[in-house]
Amino acid sequence: MSLQVRDLSIGFPSSGSTGVDGSVVAGVDLDLHAGQTLGLVGQSGSGKSLVSLAMIGLLPQGAVAQGQVTFGGRNLLDLPEREMCAMRGRRIGMVFQEPMSALNPTMRIGAQISEGLRLHQRMSRKQARGHARDWMERMRIARAAERLDSYPHELSGGQRQRVGLAIALALRPDVLIADEPTTALDVTVQAEILAILQEQVRDLGIALMLISHDLGVVAQLAQRVAVFYHGRKIEEGRTAQVLHQPQAEHTRALIAALPARARAELGGGV
Ligand SMILES: Nc1ncnc2c1ncn2[C@@H]1O[C@H](COP(=O)(O)OP(=O)(O)OP(=O)(O)O)[C@@H](O)[C@H]1O
Ligand SMILES: [Mg+2]
Repeated sequence: MSLQVRDLSIGFPSSGSTGVDGSVVAGVDLDLHAGQTLGLVGQSGSGKSLVSLAMIGLLPQGAVAQGQVTFGGRNLLDLPEREMCAMRGRRIGMVFQEPMSALNPTMRIGAQISEGLRLHQRMSRKQARGHARDWMERMRIARAAERLDSYPHELSGGQRQRVGLAIALALRPDVLIADEPTTALDVTVQAEILAILQEQVRDLGIALMLISHDLGVVAQLAQRVAVFYHGRKIEEGRTAQVLHQPQAEHTRALIAALPARARAELGGGV
């Protein structure tokens, strides 16, 4: 299952923060394909998150999107909220930087993973709990059976992000949008979570859109990368090509801004 974004523009008609043409995101085209990862990079404020929120119908109050987000033969921008709601989570999953935002602090972990399974896949309580444990094991959460009964605050940041991923992946979405999923985590935890993500994209055939300010993260997972600057996509191509032979001046600047060691880790002539 693929997803296409065509000529996507986003503006805040009633706010003063819009550009000369009245939009903060303009003319964006993107293609997501099953089993592949598209990386989105670009400086802070370049429009990466707004693009992803438009794709799932969660733009902030006052934002207006135009263009097409085509998925399963429909333009998601025209979908009534009721239908978008059924799509969100089940067909298009999401993971954000702060896992706490996706978790309910008053609900046990197992119940939170089970909730979607019971709702969308009509599993019994017991069946859903078994699946929840399986997914926690797949996310390599130690002592998964015990952890089912923990509350989010009893877990580390890395474990919480694994739970966030388990909630998203358990519904077997066709598309997963991950906005800075490992940014708040330390390097070793980040590496483990990226490895899990990579494995699941391959095993479940998910189309992953990975947003990261970290070119190293994108280089590790993404087959293709799109570079954003001031609300526009200024460059897109195969990851190795973009990183080793960047065409846009801003892409060169992003690469030049990396610390020397990170640049060396990108490999090749970067
Ligand atoms: N609620 C809002 N009202 C007005 N302008 C907004 C709103 N939310 C975002 N913007 C503007 O839209 C632009 C794009 O924001 P967005 O959050 O998509 O950037 P980003 O690339 O995700 O940045 P970061 O890397 O910091 O997460 C920014 O310039 C921001 O000022
Ligand atoms: Mg963002």
